[in-house]
Amino acid sequence: MSSPKPAPQYLTSITTKQALILILSTLTLITFTYISFTSVRPTLNYTSYTSSSSLSYPQPTTSSHVDVEAEESGSDGFTDVYHVPEVFKLNYAEMERRFKVFIYTDGDPKTFYQTPRKLTGKYASEGYFFQNIRESKFRTEDPDEADLFFIPISCHKMRGKGTSYENMTIIVQNYVDGLISKYPYWNRTLGADHFFVTCHDVGVRATEGLPLLVKNSIRAVCSPSYDVGFIPHKDIALPQVLQPFALPRGGDDIENRTTLGFWAGHRNSRIRVILARTWENDTELDISNNRINRATGHLVYQKRFYRTKFCICPGGSQVNSARIADSIHYGCIPVILSNYYDLPFNDILDWKKFAVILKEKDVYDLKQILKDISHEQFVTLHNNLVKIQKHFQWNTPPTPYDAFHMVMYDLWLRHSVIKY
Ligand SMILES: *[C@@H]1O[C@H](CO)[C@@H](O)[C@H](O)[C@H]1NC(C)=O
Ligand SMILES: *[C@@H]1O[C@H](CO)[C@@H](O)[C@H](O)[C@H]1NC(C)=O
Ligand SMILES: *[C@@H]1O[C@H](CO)[C@@H](O)[C@H](O)[C@H]1NC(C)=O
Ligand SMILES: *[C@@H]1O[C@H](CO)[C@@H](O)[C@H](O)[C@H]1NC(C)=O
Repeated sequence: MSSPKPAPQYLTSITTKQALILILSTLTLITFTYISFTSVRPTLNYTSYTSSSSLSYPQPTTSSHVDVEAEESGSDGFTDVYHVPEVFKLNYAEMERRFKVFIYTDGDPKTFYQTPRKLTGKYASEGYFFQNIRESKFRTEDPDEADLFFIPISCHKMRGKGTSYENMTIIVQNYVDGLISKYPYWNRTLGADHFFVTCHDVGVRATEGLPLLVKNSIRAVCSPSYDVGFIPHKDIALPQVLQPFALPRGGDDIENRTTLGFWAGHRNSRIRVILARTWENDTELDISNNRINRATGHLVYQKRFYRTKFCICPGGSQVNSARIADSIHYGCIPVILSNYYDLPFNDILDWKKFAVILKEKDVYDLKQILKDISHEQFVTLHNNLVKIQKHFQWNTPPTPYDAFHMVMYDLWLRHSVIKY
């Protein structure tokens, strides 16, 4: 199937020779997967428990060996920051070629349908998705060739217009009921091949009036917590990204990272209160007990990310925080301090290779945990972080492997289980 748009550079670079390699790698894929699950995985996992701490923070010196192997085997930078680099590479290419999404055109774009509210602020991911999919090659006008159907209703925009929660639920219900009675597509699977996107958590509440929307459809949300309605095998964790970034991306700047850990922000959750109370006067961890005031100086908050090794990312009112994408962008290792957070692209990326994943109870041992990470391990984490920065950035128009394409890839992985 040929695309009307010019193929991206990385696709045109697939020559006959490389195609041959691709076929060969497909043939060896089963062997590869078998080996990686039987021998490589346990080795890595068990070696990471040899330290005195029982926490499984990463031991990157072990994995850098695998890195080299992956690069030597000619996988074009598809290193072990991915769970199975070869599978991601091949599946992603297939998604690029074949994936088609039908967007319902109903609803007045001047209200909360079809168009994003804006591409700024902490819920910008929602707006970017709406805009990106409309201008992407994945969009089809022909529902018969669609793999999935997008319900383009923006709860963030509704919220911006001051709609009450109760009215939101009614508006979503009326809209989807309208689609159900007008088109034959929903009824074939009762919504299993439909999806909606909401970064603001009000979007999850607003769908409560339609039990089948919650149960059957794919929900792409910024607040994916295992202990609320999120279903990890079906739903998708949308990265929360506060764009545009105020300063350029960080990377290859390890000598400037002299602060061990940093956090400043609103104490709007239990874990943030504990974090501030425990560490606010520490001389090695730079933990504020409040937001950094703008009067302190120009972009003081953002500049701290460049000077820090580990940026602490406790959950706020939800498990997620735009601080995680900030940390990734500025090259500061994110330290996840949330329970039950289904991290964005968790099924594709091996987060332990570029982040430190902790539980809330670890907050009391935070300093020792970070100090136990050797300089070599930190360097490996930092270098891996730079490799995945592109996955946590939105662009208009979208570019290959950016946040939009990663969300599309997650949708592609989920669509294949639906039959009608
Ligand atoms: C909710 O809907 C009712 C009926 O349409 C309307 O009168 C009311 O103003 C709405 N309230 C809000 C906050 O949107
Ligand atoms: C889909 O099913 C519902 C419930 O049975 C029905 O009311 C609706 O008319 C159906 N839609 C179409 C397009 O047939
Ligand atoms: C380190 O910080 C200094 C002062 O802010 C800056 O001029 C320099 O470019 C930074 N080095 C790197 C590698 O980013
Ligand atoms: C930090 O210092 C301030 C001012 O001296 C004090 O009020 C506060 O109790 C200290 N916090 C901790 C956790 O020791």
